[in-house]
Amino acid sequence: MRINSPKLNIMHKACMKASRSLIRDFGEIENLQVSSKGPGDFVSSADKRTEKIIIEELLKAQPDYCILSEEAGTINEKNKSNKWIIDPIDGTSNFLNGIPQFAISIGYEENNQIKSGLIYDPIKNELFFAEIGSGAFLNNSRIRVSKRKNLKHSLLGTGGPKSNSKLKNEIFQEFIEVSKNIETPIRKYGSASLDLASVACGRFDGFWQRELSYWDIAAGILIIKEAGGFVDFLENNDIKSKKMNLVASNSFIHKELMDLINKKNIEKN
Ligand code: IPD
Ligand code: CA
Ligand code: CA
Repeated sequence: MRINSPKLNIMHKACMKASRSLIRDFGEIENLQVSSKGPGDFVSSADKRTEKIIIEELLKAQPDYCILSEEAGTINEKNKSNKWIIDPIDGTSNFLNGIPQFAISIGYEENNQIKSGLIYDPIKNELFFAEIGSGAFLNNSRIRVSKRKNLKHSLLGTGGPKSNSKLKNEIFQEFIEVSKNIETPIRKYGSASLDLASVACGRFDGFWQRELSYWDIAAGILIIKEAGGFVDFLENNDIKSKKMNLVASNSFIHKELMDLINKKNIEKN
C-alpha cells in the first residue's frame, strides 16, 4: 500500500483494526438471521463496536482532535481546526441482511477543508484513499474517474429516499426523469461511500443522491476530486448542511447530469 502520509497512516491503522472485528461480526449475521430475535440488535452493537475501535485508535494518535461520528456524535467539539469524520458501517441495511456491500469511511478535515479520505470495503479488501493534491488510489493503483463522454450511455448510481423523507415522491420522480435519459438502468447499491468510490475508479460514470449526511460522503468527496471528478451540491445546499444533495461524476457528463436533475421536480427547500 502506498500510504506515506502520517494522517492516512493513522486512519488506515484504525480502519484495519476495526475491520477485523467487523468481518467477524459479518460472519455471525447468517446465524442471526435464522434466530428468532433477528439480527437488529446485533447490528447496532456491531456498528458501535466498530466505531469504538476507530475512535480509540484515532484518539490514541491525536487526543485533542475533534471527531464527528455517526453513532457517537461529536467529541472534542472545541477543536475547530482538526476533525475526523467517521461512518463506521456505511451500508447498514446490506450488512444486516448479509449482503457484502458496506464500508468503513473516514475523512480528515483541517480548517474546514477535507485533506484526507479513506473508504474501505472489508469484504473485497478494497481500500480507496486520497490525500489532497496527491491523487486517488485503490490499493496499490492510481485511480481516475471514467472518460465516458455522454450521459445517455452512462452508468449511474443513486440511493434513497429514506423511509422518513418528506421528498419521497419528488425523489422517485427525479429517478424516473433521469432514467428516461439514459440507456442502462440506474444502480442502487445501498452504500453511499462505496457509490462514491465507484465513481472515483470509473465503475460508475456518475452518482447523485439527496439527503445524505456528511459522514456518508466526506471521504468520498475528496477521493472523487483527486481522481479527477466533479462534486456539486444541488440548490442552496452546501457541504455543511444537515442533508446534502450531492451530484458526482466525470467532467464530461457533469453539466448534463446537473442540468437534468436541476431542471425538474424538487421544490427548492
Ligand atoms: C446509508 C447508506 C445508503 C444511503 C443512505 C445512508 P448507513 O448509510 O449510505 O446508501 O442511501 O442515505 O444513510 O445508514 O448505512 O450508514
Ligand atoms: Ca452512512
Ligand atoms: Ca452508518
